[in-house]
This record gives sequence, structure tokens and C-alpha cells, in this order.
Amino acid sequence: MAKHFIGLMSGTSADGVDAVVARFGDHPRLRILAHHHEPYGAPLRERILGLMTPGADEIDRMGPLEIELAEIFAAAANRVRRAAGLSPGAISAIGSHGQTIRHRPGGPLAFTLQIGDPSRIAERTGITTIGDFRRRDMAAGGQGAPLVPAFHRWLFWDKEHDRAIVNIGGIANVTCISRDPSAPVAGFDTGPGNALLDGFIRRTLGLARDEAGAWAARGHLHAPLLVTLLEEPYFSTPPPKSTGREHFSLAWLDERLAHHPDVPAEDIQATLTRLTAATIVTAVRETHADQLFVCGGGSANDSLMRELRALFDGTVDTTAALGLAPDLVEATAFAWLAAQTLAGQPGNLPSATGAAHAAVLGGIYPATGTARP
Ligand SMILES: Nc1ncnc2c1ncn2[C@@H]1O[C@H](COP(=O)(O)OP(=O)(O)O)[C@@H](O)[C@H]1O
Ligand SMILES: [Mg+2]
Repeated sequence: MAKHFIGLMSGTSADGVDAVVARFGDHPRLRILAHHHEPYGAPLRERILGLMTPGADEIDRMGPLEIELAEIFAAAANRVRRAAGLSPGAISAIGSHGQTIRHRPGGPLAFTLQIGDPSRIAERTGITTIGDFRRRDMAAGGQGAPLVPAFHRWLFWDKEHDRAIVNIGGIANVTCISRDPSAPVAGFDTGPGNALLDGFIRRTLGLARDEAGAWAARGHLHAPLLVTLLEEPYFSTPPPKSTGREHFSLAWLDERLAHHPDVPAEDIQATLTRLTAATIVTAVRETHADQLFVCGGGSANDSLMRELRALFDGTVDTTAALGLAPDLVEATAFAWLAAQTLAGQPGNLPSATGAAHAAVLGGIYPATGTARP
């Protein structure tokens, strides 16, 4: 029987929250009944980004922000639920990723932190809410990321082609799905997606993003700078691996720009765009995928898409060609992960995260806070 779930995703770009109502069934397996993007205003975005790198008074800045975000998440969930024409009781659960403010994988004391209180979302929506997906994977020895590959495989596997699904958010991650269903699915973060593009244009021109990649298109690739950027050890580290904005920050960029002091700003932006495309294509090439499908906000950056098409040997499209709009993929993945958890099924792929085993992910916050004897 078909079931309805809400997915909520707020990624490392801190641009806003994406909400979807997804119907999972047999034919078709997926239908999106409603979706909404609630953008964050510039001050809220600043406060989120301000928690992604270490600083003073973090806990006191985080606490109220976590509650504000939970209220925004809940309002977005209520809004899409109403748009879908469904009552709270018709939704099996909300899967809420939360807002990552720190991600430090690897080592015995690895941790990852997503905020946006699921108790409050359950309270405000009257819908069972599942959150905190990443920590269980980390507890099982994984990176806690990426968690979308199992969903990508469920929806996008094809018997004719080896497919790479590339999500270009603040950080970019790829999922490589072999046409051979018994082959393990590879999935990992390739490095920066939009994070440096956003950060550099924000600092230089005061804009939130490089709309359609127009600024990068006015610049030229600076080959020596690209070489310096590509020397970053993360790019040649074998998977499983994941990273975050605390690593690929403007401070990271500035250390490298110091070796190339006279590069015009638009050439820096063009080179950062190439960096994102080149690190993605290099990673995908190793998996022999012949089709590449892009999702996430980077799919709206024409310069980035042009670079991907120029560098990749196979076809490059967005996931719209597979029936799911690129900006809805991540939120839908968390709706799907909530469905997995509620069904007692695992959500992580050890081949992607490096966990010792597949695990049922997340914490379940029941719809009603009223204790029943
Ligand atoms: N029209 C556009 N032109 C250029 N870049 C865009 C556009 N729309 C979205 N983006 C980029 O995508 C980012 C948001 O992508 P998203 O998939 O939501 O990432 P995240 O999961 O990190 O929040 C924005 O910060 C911006 O860099
Ligand atoms: Mg986003």
C-alpha cells in the first residue's frame, strides 16, 4: 500500500529548507505530491554559516538557532502537507535531516552535528518525526555521510547503464550505481560543490550566489591556481570519505590564493567552478559510469554544467531527465530514509559510508507527546 512521507532538507549552503510530500508505492514507486523551498534571509544564513567554523559562545548561539530552525522546518512541513491536501494523520512520518553545523568524520572521536529539534517538529506538526540520521552510521564506524546513495540506487538504478548521480550542494557528493545489481554502490563527497563559489562571490561582490554562473563565465581559467587547488590531499584520498564547509572554507581558499596574488576575481571564480567540475569528473571516471545526472542547486549553474559536459566522456543531464526535479532529490531522500527507519530497514550503505554494517538510522519522535498507559 502506498504511504506518504514528508522530507525536509537544509544543506550546507544554508540557503533555505526544501520540503516535499512524497508518496512511495509500487506503480509508480515515487510521486511528489507537493514541494516548497523556504529561503533563509541573509541574517539567518549568516548565523548558520557562523556556526560552521569554531568561534566564541557557540552553545549559546546554537541553542536559540536550533529552535528557530525547528519552527521553520515545522512550518514548511505543515505548508507542504496542506498543499498536498492531506491531514497530519495521513502522513506516516517526517524525515528531517536538520542543519549540519559541524562534521568531523574519522578517528575514534568522530562526530557530526545536525540541529533543528525534531521534538519541536513533532509537536508543531502532529506528525511522527525522524531526525538525527547520521550519528548511527558514525557509531557503526562510518563517515555518517553520504546517506543518499541507498535512495539513489532505489530510484535511479538502470539495467543498461552505469550511472553517476552527483548532488552539487555546498559540498558535492557522487553515487555510482553499476548496471550489475550485485556490484557495491560507491558514494562519497568529492569536495566543494557551491561552497567556495558562494563564499567567494559573497565576499567579493556581496551576492548570495553566482546566478547561473554568469560571473564565472566572464572569467578565465587560471591553470597554475587550479594546480595549487588540486594539490589538496582530500581529492586523492581514497573513499569512503566525507567532508564539510569547515574544511573547504574561505580560509582554505585564502591559503592557496596567497601563492597567486594577482589573479583577477572573476578568474578565481572561473577556476573554482572548474575545480568543482574537475574533482567530480575525476571521481566519476574511476567508476566507469557512462551517464552522469546532476541534482542540487549546482544544476542551475550553467557554467558548472558546461564544465561538466566538457570534461565528462558520457552524457550529462540533470535528474529531471529521470523524472525527479534536481532541487527535490535530497529532501525526497530524507522522506525515503524516514520510511526505511519506520519499516525497521537500514538507510546507510556501508560501501558508501564505510560503516561496519547497515543500520536502521535516526531517532523516532512520536506524533503525540501525550503518554498513553
Ligand atoms: N540559479 C542558480 N544559479 C547559480 N547557483 C545556484 C542557483 N540556484 C542554486 N544555486 C546554488 O546552489 C546552492 C544551493 O544548493 P542546494 O542543493 O540547496 O545545496 P545544499 O544542500 O548545500 O543546501 C546555492 O547556495 C547556490 O550556490
Ligand atoms: Mg539547500
